[in-house]
Amino acid sequence: MSVMITAVVGSLRQDSLNRQLALEARRVIGDRADFVLLDYSDVPFMNQDIEYPAPEAVARVRGIVKSSDGIWFFSPEYNHSYPGVLKNLIDWLSRPISDSEPQVLRGKPAAVSGITPGMSGTGIMQDHLVTLISLLNMKVMNQPRLTIPNATEQVDSEGRLTLTESAPFLEKQAQAFLRFIGAPSA
Ligand code: FNR
Repeated sequence: MSVMITAVVGSLRQDSLNRQLALEARRVIGDRADFVLLDYSDVPFMNQDIEYPAPEAVARVRGIVKSSDGIWFFSPEYNHSYPGVLKNLIDWLSRPISDSEPQVLRGKPAAVSGITPGMSGTGIMQDHLVTLISLLNMKVMNQPRLTIPNATEQVDSEGRLTLTESAPFLEKQAQAFLRFIGAPSA
């Protein structure tokens, strides 16, 4: 039986480095797991006036998260934290589906990665994100995490990510996460 990993990218930008990193992770995972990128660009701003019944986009992303064996975050660092779009998504996912159905993040295995042209490697964002998802009782794989600084050194002249020195660390994290979620192939 195959396991499913859902990648949540914290950037909506078309050529996002973090999106490219997620695609690279999908390539690295290969046939060891199903790997999908969550499209949540149509999720509205959290507003309790529209919370119940859940807007269609929210119901869709909840369903995907619920049926995933693991969530792998790939996020930029915005002002030393995670982007607002990611917080908005997590705020929606943090809410109970109904009186009888709890929120979908509880107990869900999570891995955290990020890439930035800056020097922090997204480490500060990762600490904030881990605090948030731990509050929501996600089961966080704290080691290894992947922080990639100075992204321009691993990008070609057209802005395409060409992982060189970080490639072995991505493989290491992929392998560790497969084990963490109990993938049969790990
Ligand atoms: C940034 N960026 C940034 N980088 C960083 O290393 N630390 C930071 O605190 C910030 N802060 C920040 C705030 C805002 C509002 C923006 C738009 C950008 C730069 C950021 O890392 C860079 O634009 C990345 O390329 C964004 O990730 P994606 O979209 O390429 O995945």
